[in-house]
Amino acid sequence: MEHVITLTPSDIHRGHLLLVNRDHPLRKIDDSLTLKRIENLQVLDTGKESMKLERTCLEQLTALLEDCNGNQDILVVSGYRSKDEQTELYEASLRDHGDVFTSSYVARPGESEHQTGLAVDVGQRTEVVDYICPLFPDTGACKGFKQIAAQYGFIQRYKESKKEITNIAAEPWHFRYVGYPHSVIMEEREWCLEEYIDHVKRYPIHQERIEIYYVPITHDFTCITIPNGTPFTISGNNHDGCIITVYHDKGSERH
Ligand code: DAL
Ligand code: ZN
Repeated sequence: MEHVITLTPSDIHRGHLLLVNRDHPLRKIDDSLTLKRIENLQVLDTGKESMKLERTCLEQLTALLEDCNGNQDILVVSGYRSKDEQTELYEASLRDHGDVFTSSYVARPGESEHQTGLAVDVGQRTEVVDYICPLFPDTGACKGFKQIAAQYGFIQRYKESKKEITNIAAEPWHFRYVGYPHSVIMEEREWCLEEYIDHVKRYPIHQERIEIYYVPITHDFTCITIPNGTPFTISGNNHDGCIITVYHDKGSERH
């Protein structure tokens, strides 16, 4: 028996695999986005209202920090930002640091992953922490965090080697929640999110009974079928379709 799912154009703009960059700005606010306040982690005091992250991203970050024993040494420096907050940051950075720095390290309003609640900046806990470029070295708890981040669904989003593709300089502190197994596949194959989304669009991935494939959304209603009782997730790519992930040998629930 098969389960029929109907996808609509709004599904393009929700989910953990949204690609947000210079070429793919956020065009719509995701009305299904659940933001949660960060309550049990060490957070940089910015003097503003409490920091938030998307629900699953926060759950997985909490588990990751626990697993790497990072709660003492690692601070959450920045999480969800509204478009107004990104605008404020972008303008302040232009004023204080100039154009070259800003275009390297601060996304233009509407083009920041922080506006999805799926991006988090983490920093080593030191007396002074830089809000835009916090330290996140390859030592101690920060190193431990990096080593297991992919198991919890996180990728280091902006790497030196991918600068030409992402248009952002290396940011060792900026982690993006994309979810497992996508994070592990990207790490194993050394793909940034742009490359992963592009690959999945052209070639489905089958790995350890997990099937990942792309469905274009060109009509008001697009139907897909999933075997009954098989767990799956759906994420838009923020451009033209959805990525379906089917977990063939597990229980039965939609995440
Ligand atoms: N620092 C990243 C690029 C942002 O502003 O979203
Ligand atoms: Zn960031």
